[in-house]
Amino acid sequence: MTGPVARMLEEKRVVVCCGAGGVGKTTVSASLAIAAARAGRRVLVVTIDPSKRLAETLGVERNPPEPVPLPAERLAAAGIVEGTLAAWMLDPKLVSDRVVENFARSPEDARRLLDNRMYRNITAMIAGLQEYTAVEALHGFVMEDVYDLVILDTPPSRDALRFLDAPDRVAMFLDRRIFNLFVPGEGSAIRRMATRLIEKVMDVAFGEQTRRDLQQFFDLFGGVLDHLNHNQHEMRAFFKQPDIGFLLVTSPAREALAEAGFFARKTRDELKMHLCGYVLNRSLAAQAGYAMPDPAALPDDADPALRSGLSTLAGLARVEQQKVAEHLALAADLETRAGDGFAWVLPMLGGGAGDLADLVHLADVLVAERPPGHPDSEETP
Ligand SMILES: Nc1ncnc2c1ncn2[C@@H]1O[C@H](COP(=O)(O)OP(=O)(O)OP(=O)(O)O)[C@@H](O)[C@H]1O
Ligand SMILES: [Mg+2]
Repeated sequence: MTGPVARMLEEKRVVVCCGAGGVGKTTVSASLAIAAARAGRRVLVVTIDPSKRLAETLGVERNPPEPVPLPAERLAAAGIVEGTLAAWMLDPKLVSDRVVENFARSPEDARRLLDNRMYRNITAMIAGLQEYTAVEALHGFVMEDVYDLVILDTPPSRDALRFLDAPDRVAMFLDRRIFNLFVPGEGSAIRRMATRLIEKVMDVAFGEQTRRDLQQFFDLFGGVLDHLNHNQHEMRAFFKQPDIGFLLVTSPAREALAEAGFFARKTRDELKMHLCGYVLNRSLAAQAGYAMPDPAALPDDADPALRSGLSTLAGLARVEQQKVAEHLALAADLETRAGDGFAWVLPMLGGGAGDLADLVHLADVLVAERPPGHPDSEETP
């Protein structure tokens, strides 16, 4: 028997980890990837801005053109025998350049577009375009069939969700009719007049050279745009497929939980995507049932200093127990909110969670039959 997280890793082709800043999305993504690779799957984890230690553990560098496979000795150390694990650090600039290279009308057009002064600024300004191009890259990985499972980490804010509705936002900006106004040449007399007028206004506002650069950008970007527009619906449908799952990572902090609620409404209720469940990270729930320091258990002739020390500890432990009880209630609440999905508790690891042993430990907790601290959990402290 395996638990629901293990089943998710078995059944899905893509798992997207969302959540508030700093809750552990990148750590959980890496741990899930290790768990799936240990179970024999060929896994790619796409990370965003991992901590230095985690980047070292996964062997990812900034701006690599391709995913980096985990070296054999590290696979062995993580107990990965049949599966494979590769990691890639998502760099939006690199991804959007790749989209241009693949979808410009010709290699020359691609070169001119990448060299265009406006390209970088304008593409950075188009809301959702960066996220959208990232989605394209993800789609590419899934279609290539090199990996059985892709785990996607997301950036630290609710803007991360922009990539979900990116097709709509991009569509608004990229409406061909607006676009064409900037591009000189063909069209009706009225359109030519409108273009000339826009040129004049822009010459005054920006200077002629900038206006020419802008026009070149709009002209060249047209080819890429046609491709993006064509793919929008496919991409939206792609994320609604049942084998693409969303996982909401949260910490016990109130703001993080509120953010998880927002993500749940957005993904499941609004966008009708498949929400697998919640991960309550850095939780003390796993400590439920730990023995409490009890001065009454001391022999009558115990050293008074020892008795007083133990009383102080007992006070601290009561505060801790209170927190444990709160975290248990939170886990139960998340389980209700998850409906058919799961609510999984991950312990707070002393000293952070950046090295391989930490990730393997979290991976084991993730694929257990029940989360630690769960009333039916067999794990005893
Ligand atoms: N269960 C855990 N126990 C202890 N430390 C943890 C745990 N999970 C994550 N951390 C630590 O918390 C920090 C933040 O984690 P991580 O980078 O995974 O969060 P994130 O949600 O990806 O952050 P961001 O939103 O900035 O991308 C890291 O230093 C990580 O090692
Ligand atoms: Mg992160």
